Amino acid sequence: MGLVFGLGGGASPVTENAAQFQPQTDDVFARIARDYDRYCDYFSFFIQRLWKRAFAAEVTACSGDWLDLASGTGDIPQRVLNASTRRGQVVVSDICLPMLDVARTKLEDRAVTFARIDAGDMRDVPNDSFDVISMAFGMKIVDRDAALREIYRCLKPGGVFLCIEASRIGWAPLQALYLTYMNLCLPVMGQLIARGDRSAYDYLLRGIHDFPDGKTFTRYLESKHFEAVSVRPLSLGIVAIHRAHKPL
Ligand SMILES: C[S@@+](CC[C@H](N)C(=O)[O-])C[C@H]1O[C@@H](n2cnc3c(N)ncnc32)[C@H](O)[C@@H]1O
Repeated sequence: MGLVFGLGGGASPVTENAAQFQPQTDDVFARIARDYDRYCDYFSFFIQRLWKRAFAAEVTACSGDWLDLASGTGDIPQRVLNASTRRGQVVVSDICLPMLDVARTKLEDRAVTFARIDAGDMRDVPNDSFDVISMAFGMKIVDRDAALREIYRCLKPGGVFLCIEASRIGWAPLQALYLTYMNLCLPVMGQLIARGDRSAYDYLLRGIHDFPDGKTFTRYLESKHFEAVSVRPLSLGIVAIHRAHKPL
C-alpha cells in the first residue's frame, strides 16, 4: 500500500530530544536503513531481540486500530503480525522513507498501511483515531514533548500508548559501570560495524545517557495528561516498557 499521510509543515523543532537528533540535518537512518537490523543486533549483543519480543507481546495484547510510530524497518509490526491476526487498521510509520522501504519488503504480504509521519507533527492524523499507539526506541530520538502531545491527541479516549526505550539500572554504581562500558564499547564497535559512521552510534550513546529513568518518564507522561501509567523494567532497567492511557 502507498503512503497515506504526508509530513505536516517542516519537521518538528528539537527541544526535549535526548539524542539531539535533527532529521533535517542528518539522514543517518537513510544511510544505514539496509544494515539497521544487523547494527541493532551487534550493538546490543542480540539482547534487543528479547526486548522487542517482550514489547511486541504487549502490543499484541492490545486490540483495535494501531499506529506504530518510528517503526524503522518494521521489526515490531512484523513480530506482532506474526503472533496473531489483528482486526482493525495497522499503520506502520516513520519519518525516513528508506527505513519504510525496508519495512515494506518485510511486510509486503500483510494488510498494513505505510505512512511517512513525523511523530512530533502528526497534523494529518485526525484526533481520537487510534486505540493503540506504539513507539519502540524512537522516544529518545524525537522531541518527546511534541511527540507525546501528538500521541495523546491521536489516541481515542481510553486508548493506550506503549513505549519501549532506554532507561536506567536502579543501582547507581552498576548504571555508572554500564555507561562506562557503553562509552568505551560503542565507538569501537561503531568503527568496526558501521564503517566509522559516527552518527550510527552517537545518537544511541547520547540517548542512553540522557533519556530519563523509569520513574521520571512516568511522571513526565502523567504531566502530559496520561493516566494509569505503568513501567516494566527489562534487563535490570537497561530498557523499560511504559504503558500509558488516555482517559475515557
Ligand atoms: C532507533 S530507530 C527505531 C526503529 C524501530 N522502532 C526499532 O525498534 O527497530 C528510530 C527510528 O525513528 C525514526 N525517526 C527519527 N525521527 C523521527 C520523527 N521525528 N518522527 C518519526 N520517526 C522518526 C528514524 O527514522 C528511525 O527509523
